[in-house]
Amino acid sequence: MKIPEKVILVTGGAGFIGSNYLNTVVPRYPNYRFVNIDALTYAADLKNITVADAPNYVFVQADIRDVSALQKTWETYSPTDIIHFAAESHVDNSIAGPRIFVETNVLGTQNLLELARASGVKRFHHISTDEVYGSLGFDAPSTDENAPLLPNSPYSASKAGADHLVRSYNKTFGLNTVITRASNNYGPHQHHEKLIQLFISNLLSGKKVPLYGTGKNVRDWLYVGDHILGIDAAFHKGKSGEVYNLGGGVELENIDITKKLLKLTGRDESAIEYVTDRKGHDLRYALDCRKAKRELNWAPLKSLEEGLRETVTYHKRKQESDKKN
Ligand SMILES: NC(=O)c1ccc[n+]([C@@H]2O[C@H](COP(=O)([O-])OP(=O)(O)OC[C@H]3O[C@@H](n4cnc5c(N)ncnc54)[C@H](O)[C@@H]3O)[C@@H](O)[C@H]2O)c1
Repeated sequence: MKIPEKVILVTGGAGFIGSNYLNTVVPRYPNYRFVNIDALTYAADLKNITVADAPNYVFVQADIRDVSALQKTWETYSPTDIIHFAAESHVDNSIAGPRIFVETNVLGTQNLLELARASGVKRFHHISTDEVYGSLGFDAPSTDENAPLLPNSPYSASKAGADHLVRSYNKTFGLNTVITRASNNYGPHQHHEKLIQLFISNLLSGKKVPLYGTGKNVRDWLYVGDHILGIDAAFHKGKSGEVYNLGGGVELENIDITKKLLKLTGRDESAIEYVTDRKGHDLRYALDCRKAKRELNWAPLKSLEEGLRETVTYHKRKQESDKKN
């Protein structure tokens, strides 16, 4: 390819959101080169990247905890921009073993920030989560970007730590940064450890679904394709040093999302198995996304019904093709 306009280092591009991002932007921006670095943990699947043969895409297996591997990647590809997805991302795993969450999510992010600063990267876009704001009461107003960070799980604490570091590299060193904080994503390519994927896959296989506590915890659901559009808008139009909330605008109790999935898969409520609640389980997350609408002209497009239907269809196809292989 010709000299690219940008060389974007994408971390964690073999994961759920990263692969959806690459599949969208690699064809959309033929003048950018995308360098995907991923350690290929249990959560990764390179088969989810459908643009692997594109001339403006390259994959490097590297761990963001490994500074010398990162330096080598920098020397080879000279990234001009970073979009940082790579993380340990599952709350339950962070309760079972918090340390790797600090190593990857905090120290790994600091490794990238340091190289970005030293090499004059033009934009560092950090992908974060609504979980850094902590839990809301049922009647509390939704959280805007000025709310304090009050994380409750080792996962959200490690993501909040990374958010603070990103902010500090902007304030102290003048690094051009943007942070997006999204609500719970769902859609194709998600690992089956996460609620919607696990439930669809169990229901389609005739198994029960484990619902924490009473199922009353409230989550806001964002279709991954809408998240990608928000990331792309924030990357190109977001102001340096700013944070943008990206939420689906659909708050539902876990029991209600479960009932929707039961309906879509033709199962009934006897398929629900109530299990002991997660430790420190946050009651409710809800994002105020007016800033993203105002400054990025972003709002989610996909209705929950449509997104869930598509996700169930994706799963049915995947189960059939897995059976054949
Ligand atoms: N899934 C959600 O609902 C959600 C919501 C908001 C924000 N986020 C954030 O979005 C990002 C992506 O989430 P996801 O759901 O796609 O996660 P995922 O677990 O599906 O993917 C994470 C990817 O990062 C890679 N990775 C992990 N540790 C690494 C390391 N040390 N070095 C290099 N690569 C490593 C994994 O191999 C994997 O490909 C994360 O930062 C997460 O905190 C996720």
